[in-house]
Parts: sequence; structure tokens; C-alpha cells
Amino acid sequence: MPPLALQQGCQISVTTRLSSAEIDRAAALIRAGRLVAFPTETVYGLGGDATNDETVAAIFSAKSRPSFNPLIVHLLRADEAERLAEIDGRAALMMQRFWPGPLSLVLRRAPRCPISLLASAGLDTLALRVPAHPVAQALLRASGRPIAAPSANRSGKVSPTTANDVAAELDGRIDAILDGGACRVGIESTVLDLSGQKPMLLRPGGVALEAIEALLGPIEQAADSDTPSSPGMLASHYAPTTPLRLNATSVNAGEALLAFGPNAPSGAAKSLSLSDSGNLDEAAAHLFAMLRALDRPEFSAIAVMPIPETGLGRAINDRLRRAATR
Ligand code: TXA
Ligand code: MG
Repeated sequence: MPPLALQQGCQISVTTRLSSAEIDRAAALIRAGRLVAFPTETVYGLGGDATNDETVAAIFSAKSRPSFNPLIVHLLRADEAERLAEIDGRAALMMQRFWPGPLSLVLRRAPRCPISLLASAGLDTLALRVPAHPVAQALLRASGRPIAAPSANRSGKVSPTTANDVAAELDGRIDAILDGGACRVGIESTVLDLSGQKPMLLRPGGVALEAIEALLGPIEQAADSDTPSSPGMLASHYAPTTPLRLNATSVNAGEALLAFGPNAPSGAAKSLSLSDSGNLDEAAAHLFAMLRALDRPEFSAIAVMPIPETGLGRAINDRLRRAATR
């Protein structure tokens, strides 16, 4: 049995040392319309051929994802975006500055766009991103297809940042996992909507808002509601089972602590630190893995210390607020 193949709907074999033959096998699965989880610099994606309607439908079903929630399409190079979507000066500037990297752009679909309409979930827009991770790029290159890839978790759960986390979420539901180690950024891409007159921040993420505003001027943040313009941004998303208590400066009996910075309170049943030195990039990289590690029934709650609302702190707080909403 080749190392990437699904073993009869139960164990997925996880490939750790990636040879070009393994990339080629994964690429062949993509071309055949199958589902392959792969690392990106942000989080692991659950990938499939974005031009294949049945494959895109299979992505939704593997994640148990509501079909109204559109997918990000991953490309090898920025110039591929031109035949898929309408690129104006703002979009060209963003692509030039931030691609490859953790920025997804929501753009109007081009007239003869070959991407499955299901990936847009009925909208006339398309989210595009060029990932920076070498394994993602190798898979895109070898498959020759645009790859639709939501985060490789079941809908509503925390995004996976390691191949083992993917296996815990999706074992038996997908065909292979490419293991590229832990994700460097650790938090999903920033989603910026450039399909209308005014740029809108739909999801804070791996590119800090400040860096985008330095080029485009002040940017509005889409309001959360039950009918958000980025449908994935439903208030309760990224939910661990254990309740979260935010802005905690002390711990209660039975609580686990997710600490940040040098002044962590003592007394926690278990304590993990996002960053001892208070570095927000380091904290983002640790966030999802630590939430998973502390999401255990023996803890009454996960107490989370305050995180400053600057740089990647904005994205961290966004995910924490969603995780705390139930
Ligand atoms: O970092 C990432 O973006 C990861 C990696 C795998 O690339 N992917 C990811 O995908 O986080 P997903 O599906 O978990 O989140 C995509 C977000 C959702 O909030 C979705 O609603 C929004 O992007 N989105 C996608 N297409 C959209 C569109 N056409 N209009 C508005 N929002 C869109
Ligand atoms: Mg997701």
C-alpha cells in the first residue's frame, strides 16, 4: 500500500519525509478528484481540485461544513488569478506585496471562471490565496490545479496546525495527509474583501491589518451577524468543548491556564504559555495547538490571559472570542 493511501476508511497514513514521489502521488490524488490535507504557512488545509464540483462537494461533506460557507482557492502563482477573478489596482498591489503569504483576497469572479460555483457557495465572488509553504507550493505545482482548501478541521472546530491534529479531525474522511511539520504562522489567513467599492476586513489573520492599511488606507471591519458577508465568520466558530474564560488575570480552582507574557498567575491545574516574552507572532503560532491541548474534560474552564489588540493580537482575540461564544 503506498504511504499516502487511505486504509479502508479508517487510518490515514501520515507521510513525514516528503519525497518528490510522495508529492507526485498526492498530486495524482488531487487530479483524480480526491481529498488531500496539506500544510500551509497558516494552518493545514483540506485540499481538492477547485474546478471539480464533486470534489468541492466532498470537501464540504468531509468537514460537515454548511454549504453556504465558501472556500479559499489556492494558487501557485499570482498571475493565475487573472483568468479567475477581476483584478483591480488595489488587488494587484496586495498580491505584489503579500503573495505568497497569509492573505486571502475576495474578488469578483471572472466571466468564464473555471472554478466550481460551489466553492463560491453561490456568491459572485471568489477568495484567492497564494500560500508560502513549500509543500503547498509543490502540491500545487505537481497537480497543476487550483486547490480549494478550507482549514482541515471539522466545521466549527479549531484549525489544525500539525498533521496529527488533521488526523484527529478527519481520519477516515479524506484520502491522504502530507506532513510538513508544525505551521509557522499558526493562525488562518487574513481575508480582505476587495469586491466592492470599499475594502472590507472579513477576517483578521496572518497579515496584520496595520500592514494592509499602510497601503490601502483605513479599512472597515465587517460586523459580525447571523448573515455575515464572510459566511464563515459565524459568531461561534473555532469552539473547543471546554468553556473559555477570557481576559483572566487569575485562575480559579480546576481551571487550566492559557498564559501570555511574563506575569502568569499560579495555581492552574495545567498551564501553557502562548509566549513567555509577550511576542504576538509566537503566540499566534501556538494558539490552536495549545487550545487543543487544554481542551480536556478534567478542566472546568480554560482561563485565557489578556492579549493586546495590535498586530496578530487582533486575529488571536478574534479566534478567542469566537471560541468563547457558545
Ligand atoms: O489560512 C487559511 O486561510 C486556511 C489555509 C488552509 O489556507 N484556510 C482557511 O479556510 O482558513 P476556511 O475555509 O477555514 O476559511 C475561509 C474563510 C471563511 O470565513 C469564508 O467564509 C471566507 O474565508 N470566504 C471564502 N470565500 C469567500 C467569499 N467569496 N466571500 C466572503 N468570504 C469568503
Ligand atoms: Mg476554517
